[in-house]
Amino acid sequence: MTVREILKMGDPRLLRVAQPVTQFDSDELHLLITDLLDTMHAADGAGLAAPQIGVDLQVVIFGSGLPNPRYPQAPLVPRTVLINPTITPLADADGLVTELEDWEGCLSVPGLRGKVPRFARIRYTGFDPFGDPLTRVVEGFHARVVQHECDHLIGKLYPMRVRDFSQFGFTEVLFPGLDAPADD
Ligand code: NI
Repeated sequence: MTVREILKMGDPRLLRVAQPVTQFDSDELHLLITDLLDTMHAADGAGLAAPQIGVDLQVVIFGSGLPNPRYPQAPLVPRTVLINPTITPLADADGLVTELEDWEGCLSVPGLRGKVPRFARIRYTGFDPFGDPLTRVVEGFHARVVQHECDHLIGKLYPMRVRDFSQFGFTEVLFPGLDAPADD
C-alpha cells in the first residue's frame, strides 16, 4: 500500500494537459492504479486523477460503490478506473443540453468548496486498465464526478469553473457542523 502525496493548487504539474496511456495492462500502469486507489481511500476522496499525484497520464479513478463520508447524501457511483477518457454532453428528455450547479471540493484544494456548473447528462468513454473499452451514459452526481476528475487531465481545477464567487469559500464556514475532515 502506497499513499502518495497529493499535489495542491499552485503546483504547475496540476496545470498540464496529461499524456494518453499507450501501454495497457503493464506493471507500471497497475502500480499507478493501486497507488491512486490507496491515496483516494486514505483521503476519503470521491475520485482522484493521476496528475494529482504528479503522474502525467490520462488516468482517473472515482467511486467506490459505497457511501462516501465526505458526500454522505450522494448516490453511489461504481468504482471505476477510466483511462484516456472523452466526455460528450447529452441532451435531456426535452432535447436540451443542460448544466446544473452544485457544490464541489477537491483534494488538491483542501478546506474549500465552490458551486460549479457541470453538464447534467453525459456519455463518457475510455478504457479500463486492460485496454478494454468502457462506455457509460450517466447523470447527476456521477456525471459531476467524472467531469471534475477528467478536468484534472486538461489542467483544470474546479475553482477555474466557478462562475459566482459568492458561492466559493471555506467548508467549515459554508457548512458549519458538517462532518467532514478539515483537509477536505
Ligand atoms: Ni479534484
